[in-house]
Amino acid sequence: MDRQVRNLRIAAVSDIHVLSDGTDEPLIRAIRDRVTSLAPEVFIIAGDLSHHISVLEETLSELAIDDIVNLYVPGNHDIWFEKNPPISSMDKYAKVIGRICREQGFHYLPDEPYEHDSIGFVGSMGWSDYSFARPELGISEEQYMRKEYGGATWFDVFNVDWELTDREITDLFNHKIEYDLSTLSPSIERVVYVSHHLPFRELTVYKNRLPWDFFSAYMGATSTGEILQQDERVILTISGHSHVRNLIRKGRITAVTVPLGYCRPPNGDFNAFAKMAVADIHIQGTEVSVNDFQRGDMCEGIPYRTAR
Ligand SMILES: [Fe+2]
Ligand SMILES: [Fe+2]
Repeated sequence: MDRQVRNLRIAAVSDIHVLSDGTDEPLIRAIRDRVTSLAPEVFIIAGDLSHHISVLEETLSELAIDDIVNLYVPGNHDIWFEKNPPISSMDKYAKVIGRICREQGFHYLPDEPYEHDSIGFVGSMGWSDYSFARPELGISEEQYMRKEYGGATWFDVFNVDWELTDREITDLFNHKIEYDLSTLSPSIERVVYVSHHLPFRELTVYKNRLPWDFFSAYMGATSTGEILQQDERVILTISGHSHVRNLIRKGRITAVTVPLGYCRPPNGDFNAFAKMAVADIHIQGTEVSVNDFQRGDMCEGIPYRTAR
C-alpha cells in the first residue's frame, strides 16, 4: 500500500490528575482497558498526571501499553517543583520526566519527535503568552504576569520556579517546535502536534464571567498555532489543559482537546467514564476523524476530587 494513504489509529487522553491516595486504581485500570480495546498504533497522554513525581512514575508504568507506541508530553501540574527531595520545574521538564518516560515505556516528545512511518509526532508542553486574553476585560499584562486578579489566583505562580517570564518560556518552546519540524526525516509527509497547552484560541471556551475568562489567558499561545499553520504537513493537534473538551477545524488542521478533569464518576462506572475520556482518533491519508467524540466538561455537575 502507498505509504501516503496509510491509516493510523490514535487513542488520546489528558488531565487525569491522578489522586495520590491510591483510590484512582480502578480509573487507571479502566483507561488502560479502554485503550487496549481500541487497539491503536499510538497512545498519547497530553499531560497533567500529577505534581508528585512518584505518582507520575507509577501511573506511567500502569498505562504503558505493550506493543504500541506510548507518547507523553507533560502538563503544567507535572512540572510543579517539589521540596522534598528538591526537584525544580526545569529539572522535571528537561530531565526527570524524560528519564521516567524512557524507563516506563513512554517516548517523551519534548526531547525529540517520534517518527511512525510517514507520520511525525512533534510535541511540547506548550505554554501561555496571554494571547488568549480577552482585551475587552481591560486586564493589564502586569496583572497576567502576577497571575492574580480580584482575589482569584492562577496556581502556577506558586508552583513553577523557573525564572523566566511566560513569554520567554513560550518563545523557547516555539523555537524547539520549529527546530523539531525542520529536522524531521524527508519521508515524513504528515505531522501530528501534541501539547498540553492549546495552540489555537478557538479551542478555548470563554464564559463571559470572571475569574474564568481571566484564567483563559493561561490556556495557550496563538504564536504556537501560527507555526503549525505554516507547516503544510501538520494535519492534527492533540492537547489538554483546558478541562472543556473541544474539537475544531482550523483550515486543514483538526484540533482536539482530550481532558478528563478533577472529578470521578459518581456512580462508580469507571469503564463508561474511561470510554468518554479516551478519544478514538483516525488518520486516513490526510483526513482526520474522531469517533463518538465526547465534547464539553466531563465534570459538569460532578463534585471535584482534588489531587493533594
Ligand atoms: Fe489539567
Ligand atoms: Fe494543565
